[in-house]
Amino acid sequence: MHMRIAVAEGDGVGKEVIPPCVEILTLLLNDPEFIHVDIGYAKWAREGTPITDADIDLIAQADCMLLGAVTSVQGSSVLVRLRKTLDLFVNLRPFRSYSLTPYELNLTIIRENLEGLYSGIEELSDDIAVTQRVVTRANVERLASFASTLRNVKTVTIVHKANVLKSDIFFRDVCVRVLQEHDVPYNEMYVDTAAYNLIRHPETFDHILTSNLFGDILSDEAAALIGGLGLCPSANIGPKFAIFEPVHGSAPHIAGRGTANPIGAILSTTMLLEWAGECEKASLVDVSVKQTISKGITTRDLGGTSSTNEVAREIIRNIR
Ligand code: IPM
Ligand code: MN
Repeated sequence: MHMRIAVAEGDGVGKEVIPPCVEILTLLLNDPEFIHVDIGYAKWAREGTPITDADIDLIAQADCMLLGAVTSVQGSSVLVRLRKTLDLFVNLRPFRSYSLTPYELNLTIIRENLEGLYSGIEELSDDIAVTQRVVTRANVERLASFASTLRNVKTVTIVHKANVLKSDIFFRDVCVRVLQEHDVPYNEMYVDTAAYNLIRHPETFDHILTSNLFGDILSDEAAALIGGLGLCPSANIGPKFAIFEPVHGSAPHIAGRGTANPIGAILSTTMLLEWAGECEKASLVDVSVKQTISKGITTRDLGGTSSTNEVAREIIRNIR
């Protein structure tokens, strides 16, 4: 299949970790077309917005998008805008420990990606600020259906705060009904308990299905458990489009030094290949990442001494 892929390196380390991903896709896909999109801080400084309507139109013409990182301007996130405009209702985040930790973590967080506390329905006045936590049936149904159709699911843990929030009684009940309909094994856990158990018994988790902000927070916790954000990929998936991006941000404190870990971005490329139905090619990349880590060719965040480029070269060499 001839794929059209929008590519935005964005800011900071995005400029260092995305080029090797483009190289990998060029190597593995049949003549892919890359549509380069310039978004982020520099555009904001120039044009007063980090992303224009024209950029979004350009992105939407592609089949999917690969994104590095965009520095947030407080209160207006490019990522949140893209997720909403393109209806990307799932945020899929696998966390595998690649033998870097004493326990074997193999957890995937399925995070609701459009509503909850990210509804954008907010009021701010001098003495009170209110953000509405929105949960809609249709959206949770499609989210739980998506979870039900994933391969290799052992147990889905629905994570919520239904002891306090009515919106989470609703979230939980819709999830339970859909998972039951699909005969998917599930259990449920309060979010505070889940945060605790993730540290105490990380290996007991398989898939977590949760709302937007809880998923955001638990993602960073899971990242810390496997050796850091530098390793973590993600996929924002909708009915027609998807954005693949490392979980880490633009990391301005290390940008431009060649020390950023490219693995989060490269594994996001793996997720792109899987989404496109190229599962064998995806697993080639995955195996190569594993080999590279086990040889100790890693960046500083994982205790190694290799540069971004050295790690990327080794991964690409193995794929060839
Ligand atoms: C993430 C990020 C984003 C989020 C920010 C940058 C808006 O933290 O993708 O996890 O909160 O979803
Ligand atoms: Mn986050």
